[in-house]
Parts: sequence; structure tokens; C-alpha cells
Amino acid sequence: MKKILVTGGAGFIGSHVVDALVEQEKTVLIADNLSTGRSAHVNPGENTHFFDVDITDRDGLEQIFRQHHDIDGVIHLAAQSKASPSLEAPGHDANINIHGTVNVLELMKTYEVGRFIYASSAAVYGDQETLPITEDAAVGPLSPYGVSKYAGEEYVKAYQRLYDIDARILRFANVYGPRQSVDTEAGVITIFVEQLLNGDQPGIYGDGKQTRDFIYVKDVASAILCCLFEAPSESGGDPVYNVSTGQETSIETLLRELSAIMDQSYHPLYMGERAGDIEKSYLDNRKLRTNFTWKPETSLEDGLAATIAHAQRSGDLYEKID
Ligand SMILES: NC(=O)c1ccc[n+]([C@@H]2O[C@H](COP(=O)([O-])OP(=O)(O)OC[C@H]3O[C@@H](n4cnc5c(N)ncnc54)[C@H](O)[C@@H]3O)[C@@H](O)[C@H]2O)c1
Repeated sequence: MKKILVTGGAGFIGSHVVDALVEQEKTVLIADNLSTGRSAHVNPGENTHFFDVDITDRDGLEQIFRQHHDIDGVIHLAAQSKASPSLEAPGHDANINIHGTVNVLELMKTYEVGRFIYASSAAVYGDQETLPITEDAAVGPLSPYGVSKYAGEEYVKAYQRLYDIDARILRFANVYGPRQSVDTEAGVITIFVEQLLNGDQPGIYGDGKQTRDFIYVKDVASAILCCLFEAPSESGGDPVYNVSTGQETSIETLLRELSAIMDQSYHPLYMGERAGDIEKSYLDNRKLRTNFTWKPETSLEDGLAATIAHAQRSGDLYEKID
């Protein structure tokens, strides 16, 4: 596999995926409308080609497939990627996440591209009693975003059944790391780092004992590449995999770790519970680890240190992150 199309390749996760592909000397096509992504995050290598295109514009997207009829695989990350905006504008969320995904699948079918990676989310699970959450748990999304991500999954499975598309559906836990923007509820780590760096009081919703599964972005990028290039050891099964650490970390612990690494004291501001917030969540990653050669490599401490270091020296220019 030589030529890969990454939708959303200027975004937080997408830019790390592109970096990892470039490191493996692949030719990378990036389709992104820069709505939340940034051109400064796009790998400037000579084997990367950027297309400013909206995935809801099928004709615009088709230009890429026409120009590059030898695409070997598609990594589909472009999305309305947050829960709260989907509550404000569910139609907009559905248009990008469902209609946009169908456009990508249709073009894969037409241009006979075989391998497909679909970015889904732990948001499809909603609140679950049994932890850690396994892939066979009944879904119960709590936001239009969770619904649209799940609808995308079902389209992917339908195209897999109907046509010659070999897909993997990856449900990411809470991803963190360099280049994440602060204006996201998933980006609590980025928000805390910024607050601590500015000497502001970090704000905690609820009692801070709620837990999440925080996975470093480079471990997510390596999971995506493993799933793109490898075949699962158990073939023919359901193509859904959790991408997570399998460990839960409370918001309080997170803040304590961050302040210890930054050697900075803090006095959290407790802000009361947010409606709809889940108390505890972490995802079982055994299915991904047993089917592919992947495992998460980055400890929370190392990932947090890298995120802090990036925030401390962050500028607008593309910066390679080791
Ligand atoms: N960050 C997380 O914790 C997390 C967790 C679960 C799932 N995900 C999923 O992973 C994927 C990437 O998320 P992210 O955190 O990097 O978000 P992001 O917002 O940083 O990246 C999304 C990218 O898609 C682009 N985009 C948005 N709408 C588009 C459109 N209509 N046409 C073309 N490009 C468009 C944006 O400009 C951006 O570059 C998304 O599919 C998201 O749902 C993320």
C-alpha cells in the first residue's frame, strides 16, 4: 500500500496520522475543509498533497479520486467531531458525519478502493454499567454526535457486506496530545494545561471523581496504521475495535499529575455537575491487541509531559512532534 487518502488530515488526530504515514514513506492525500483543522498542522513533506474540500461536496471529493486513481486505502477522520455542537445543530452534524461518510464510501465503491478505516467514538456507547466496555455492549448514544457516528458505522458495515470494501471501525476513547484545540470537551487535558500555564484556576465539573480512558494521540495513530496495513488474526468477525488504554483515570488524578509535572500548585474551582455527564468510562482494548500487533506504548505521565512541552513552545508553524 503506497497511496493513502486521509480525510480530516489537518485535524488533531489526522495530522499525527499523516506524520506517521509520511514516516513510512507513503504518499498521502489530505482532504480537509479546515473548519476545525489547521493548515499549520499539515505535514509539509513532498509526498503530501492537500485538497481543500468539503466531504459533503461529492463532486469536489471525486476530483481527488479522478486525479489519483491508484489510492490504496482511505482513513476517514473528517467529521463534526464534538458532542456539544451536535446538540445545538444536529442537522449540521448529521450532514457531515452521515452524508459525508456516505460520499466517501460511494467514491470508494466507484473507484474500487479496498481498505477503509472509519473513526468512530466511545460516544456510541453512552452510559454503560459494565466496565470496561467491550465492543459487544449494546450501544446507547447520548448525543446526536454519538448517533451520527453510529449511523456511519452501520453504513460502513452495509458497504462492506454489499461491495468489495474491507473496513475496520475504530471506536476511540478520549484522545489527547499535542495540537488538540482547547475548545473541545474531549480536550480536558489541553484545557487544564492552558489554565495551569496561564496561572488560572482549573475548573472541575462535579466532584472530579468521574473517570475516563485517556489515550495518547500517537498511540491512536499507530492503531490506525496497524489496522490499515495488517489483516486481523480472526478474520470474518465484526470489524469494530476499541482504541483505548483499558485504564481509567479520574479528572482529579489527571490534574494532580499535570501539576506535578509542571511543578505548579493549583486550587481547582468546583463547578457543579454537567447534565448528561457520564460518571465512569473506560474501554476494553483486548480485541484490538489480540487481532493486530498494536498496543498502547505511551504512559499517561509521558503523554502528559509531551503535551505540556508542546503547549509551552507552541507556535503557528508546523512542528514535528517526536
Ligand atoms: N479527539 C477525540 O478524543 C476523539 C474521540 C473519538 C472519536 N474521534 C473522531 O476522530 C476523528 C478526528 O477527530 P479530531 O479530534 O482529530 O477532530 P478535529 O476536529 O481536530 O478533526 C476533524 C478534521 O475534519 C475536518 N472537517 C470537518 N468537517 C469537514 C468537512 N465537512 N469536510 C472536510 N473536512 C472536514 C476539520 O477541518 C478537521 O481537520 C473524528 O471523526 C472524531 O469524531 C475523536
